[in-house]
Amino acid sequence: MTTLKGKDILRADQLTLDEIELIMQTAARFESVMRAGGRLTNMSGKVLATLFYEPSTRTRLSFESAMLRLGGQVISVAEARTSSSAAKGETLFDTGKMIESYADVAVIRHPAIGSAQELADGASIPVINGGDGAGQHPTQALLDLYTIRKEKGTVEGLTVTLAGDLKNGRTVHSLSALLANFGVRFYFVAPAALAMPTEITAGLRQRRVEIVETSDLAEAAAQSDVLYVTRVQRERFTDPAEYERLKGSYVVDLALVKAAKPGITLMHPLPRVDEIVKELDAYDGAAYFRQAANGVQVRMALLALVTGQA
Ligand code: NCD
Repeated sequence: MTTLKGKDILRADQLTLDEIELIMQTAARFESVMRAGGRLTNMSGKVLATLFYEPSTRTRLSFESAMLRLGGQVISVAEARTSSSAAKGETLFDTGKMIESYADVAVIRHPAIGSAQELADGASIPVINGGDGAGQHPTQALLDLYTIRKEKGTVEGLTVTLAGDLKNGRTVHSLSALLANFGVRFYFVAPAALAMPTEITAGLRQRRVEIVETSDLAEAAAQSDVLYVTRVQRERFTDPAEYERLKGSYVVDLALVKAAKPGITLMHPLPRVDEIVKELDAYDGAAYFRQAANGVQVRMALLALVTGQA
């Protein structure tokens, strides 16, 4: 039987198809219990530690909400970068060593690629990667998949455009790997300086995934069932002028959606800066706020599964 008990969730490409389905089914089960007004107590007596060394609104709040909705409790270091012992030079490995006596599961967000792995190497409790620099964001990809299925009915065979900062955007790194399991065709739309890393495109092509790389967003949108837009990741730039040059590269507006494939679903991991105009919020296919809401049940599923409480 498939189980995630005791496992860390560090990268999207670590997950087998059976594990992905288990997460999706568990999330749907929790969602239907909550929808019916039921109370869940799966995590009663358990403690989640959240360690956020980088800004977050949705990821942190939805993990904390998920834990509370399962009857568990949360401890956290607010602004871990300045107020935790990291500011005194403690390594994440050592933090991991001690955290196991405080909590049953931990979520970390950190600016360095590989940081979640380092914490997990030190910790015996399951560690969930809530975003490691420009690396991975597997829980976002899982809620994105959950959202696509809910919005479209299926993910099999869809055409998906990933647009924006594909170089630094960790959500698209994880999402492309996850969707590659389902026969999705991709358009990758980015300015040349922010193109999807070649290790990722090469890996996908090796898995026989069809990818079109273009800078023409309108052309891609005309062919796509889903348009997933990302923010230019300002915090990853060393040169502010380079950020200024690239930040407005793609803006999704009414004209673009009118010319796109009818019924196109708009997604965004949020926060948006100016990539999707506000007027589109009223468009039926604008799924980004529903997408954020789905984060709660998907993260409930992850917390319960890795602790063996699902
Ligand atoms: C994303 C992230 O942190 O990578 N935010 C999120 O978790 N929803 C996207 C972003 O910050 O642009």
